[in-house]
Amino acid sequence: MATGTRYAGKVVVVTGGARGIGAGIVRAFGDSSLTAESGGRALERELPGAVFILCDVTREDDVRTLVSETIRRFGRLDCVVNNAGHHPPFQQRPEETSTQEFRQLLELNVLGMYTLTKLALPHLRKSQGNIINISSLVGAIGQAQAVPYVASKGAVTAMTKALALDESPYGVRVNCISPGNIWTPLWEELAASTPDPRATILEGTLAQPLGRMGQPAEVGAAAVFLASEATFCTGIELFVTGGAELGFGRKARRGTPVDAPDIPS
Ligand SMILES: NC(=O)c1ccc[n+]([C@@H]2O[C@H](COP(=O)([O-])OP(=O)(O)OC[C@H]3O[C@@H](n4cnc5c(N)ncnc54)[C@H](O)[C@@H]3O)[C@@H](O)[C@H]2O)c1
Repeated sequence: MATGTRYAGKVVVVTGGARGIGAGIVRAFGDSSLTAESGGRALERELPGAVFILCDVTREDDVRTLVSETIRRFGRLDCVVNNAGHHPPFQQRPEETSTQEFRQLLELNVLGMYTLTKLALPHLRKSQGNIINISSLVGAIGQAQAVPYVASKGAVTAMTKALALDESPYGVRVNCISPGNIWTPLWEELAASTPDPRATILEGTLAQPLGRMGQPAEVGAAAVFLASEATFCTGIELFVTGGAELGFGRKARRGTPVDAPDIPS
């Protein structure tokens, strides 16, 4: 149950709410129904009224229980934030990525979102609620050596738009947030898996014209805006990126054959 003044009294489910961006979203709403593992218990203690429900979004039975428990405890559902997702370690070159790994990522990043969406819709239609999918900037602009992740997030953004059309007759809005680099445990783990974590973190920091990474709270604020105030927005992709997509400049990578025009003498 959200307690913040902007969405007071509404019931919000946030998947992967125990840490990182998900925890930032839970805090931004005040308190909410939330899912996932140990960190969820800590948030439950920190935010009176918040409820932690263990749920693996790739298991349909778990997701059914999440929805039925939410309705049993609160009697309604106003907003679903599909946040749970994963970015495998960098250097996913096509020749090093198995079809099975790709399939597993789609199960989590795409089908997990779809399963909860599908099961929550009857309740969201009743409350004229809304869905917020956490996609990624790279779904729109690409990322090197990350085909499965980029494809999964491109699918999330496309699914958001298709569902926004199908649900508009029922008054359910469907939007997505595409974060850029947000400093979370996932980012920290990805950096730690590289040969020079400090250099990786510096690269990630310099990718934004603002010269810093975003905070989970800043994605949380965007989610509260979409849920509570963006009443004429559906099917949108809201970039929360510090401007990482801006700028026209050098893109050819080291080793790319370069073919520059001759300067007439
Ligand atoms: N951090 C970034 O820079 C960034 C950028 C763009 C998009 N995103 C997206 O934001 C979302 C959150 O990322 P984060 O950086 O906070 O990651 P994180 O790994 O720090 O947190 C992810 C949360 O999701 C949960 N989770 C993972 N698998 C799950 C499953 N099967 N069922 C239920 N919960 C599960 C984890 O337990 C964890 O609580 C992801 O969808 C990610 O792709 C992150």
